[in-house]
Amino acid sequence: MSQIVISEEARHWQQVARKVAEEVVRPVARHYDEVQEYPEEVRQAYIENGLLGVWIPKEYGGHGAGIVALCLVVEELSRACGGTGVAYAVNALGSFPILVGGTEEQKQKYLPQIARGEKMIAFCLSEKFAGSDAGSMRCRAVLEGDEYVIRGEKKWTTNGGVADIYTVFAVTDPNSKSRRISAFVVERPTPGFSIEKVEDKMGIRAVPVVETHFDGVRVGKDALLGGRAGMGFKHAMQTLDFARPGVAAQGVGLAQGALEYAVTYALRRQQFGQNLASMGVIMDMLGRMGSKVEAARGLVLRAATAADAGEQAVVNRLAAMAKSFSTDVAMEVTTDAVQIFGGYGFMKDYPVEKYMRDAKITQIYEGTNQIQRMVVARNLIKEAGNYSHIGAYIPTEEFNAYGADEAAAVEAEAKG
Ligand code: CAA
Repeated sequence: MSQIVISEEARHWQQVARKVAEEVVRPVARHYDEVQEYPEEVRQAYIENGLLGVWIPKEYGGHGAGIVALCLVVEELSRACGGTGVAYAVNALGSFPILVGGTEEQKQKYLPQIARGEKMIAFCLSEKFAGSDAGSMRCRAVLEGDEYVIRGEKKWTTNGGVADIYTVFAVTDPNSKSRRISAFVVERPTPGFSIEKVEDKMGIRAVPVVETHFDGVRVGKDALLGGRAGMGFKHAMQTLDFARPGVAAQGVGLAQGALEYAVTYALRRQQFGQNLASMGVIMDMLGRMGSKVEAARGLVLRAATAADAGEQAVVNRLAAMAKSFSTDVAMEVTTDAVQIFGGYGFMKDYPVEKYMRDAKITQIYEGTNQIQRMVVARNLIKEAGNYSHIGAYIPTEEFNAYGADEAAAVEAEAKG
């Protein structure tokens, strides 16, 4: 297993992101949270500073700095504003299907435009009735002559309306079990493709989350990702393996940002003739918060390093661990920051309630944390064969016999 590697290049992009976050993002974070609009000046800053090419390989016009660099950038942006962090990260989510499954032609066509920031990209997987159970989607794509006709609706499309390109997952073979779904690259505007309900959200209000509707959208066969039908679910899952470290980094950024506000406030706020930072109860809270953030960061970088090293066998597990652990940390630390601010923390005049609102969705999107832990457990169970020899040290007669008796009793009762 590879150790955590942070290249000079990744550090460089982290510094660029920190500068953009402090000079451009933080000053406008509250405003865009209030008005719930996309911050155009922030997008311009991404483009001017080359941030949209960070994770895209050099051969496709990017900087080739990898997923570690992507995570460091997302952390810095999210430290200033969680909504802005995801507005950036979702371009990686949208582009990963092309990177993992696209034809050479598709990669050459789309990735350089994304890297230069000329086009933004979004990811259309979830539906009203297909959230955690992504494989049960209903959106259909039917081959008619040389074109696929897409009909259906997608839910929770982050960056929808702002993005120019959409990776859309649809059913091409309803009778197949494992090759039911295919992915398509759909550009906007295309007749029949519309942005419908724009959600009014608790947090990440700087980025739009919308319904995307496909009412007989016609795309050529060249829009079929990888040129092969039936690979969509696999491509979606591989995409999420690469993208989840980015959500985890968003969690770390939110937690780090809230922690910094909490420490700053604790040093200033006087009660009982002393500042909060000198009180044991608050020091205990700050100590726990700081340790959790550092542990989460370590896990994110571990998952991102494995993804960059192409360690497929462990990326699925580590990405799920990092995503669930770091976003739970984000929720805990941002909630504690509000607690340290007391009544002020609950008020919109103060910055920390936004961190808490922004953190909530990170436990939900790109796979709920409950799904992540199921993924982790599935991997652990799969890997149990690696240490099967220790089974000899567990005496099994007693509990196996009990299990057998109980099963027989249940069977007898069922028979009446
Ligand atoms: N890589 C490659 N292939 C994979 C894979 C992976 N990580 N995970 C599964 N597969 C393959 C399996 O090998 C299997 O292939 P075969 O049929 O050839 O054997 C196939 O996919 C089906 O796998 P499962 O039986 O494990 O599938 P499942 O139906 O049990 O679902 C799941 C697994 C983990 C629950 C999955 O559905 C999942 O991740 N759900 C959560 C969905 C999600 O994250 N949605 C978020 C949408 S993005 C978002 O939130 C947008 C935003 O705005 C930010």
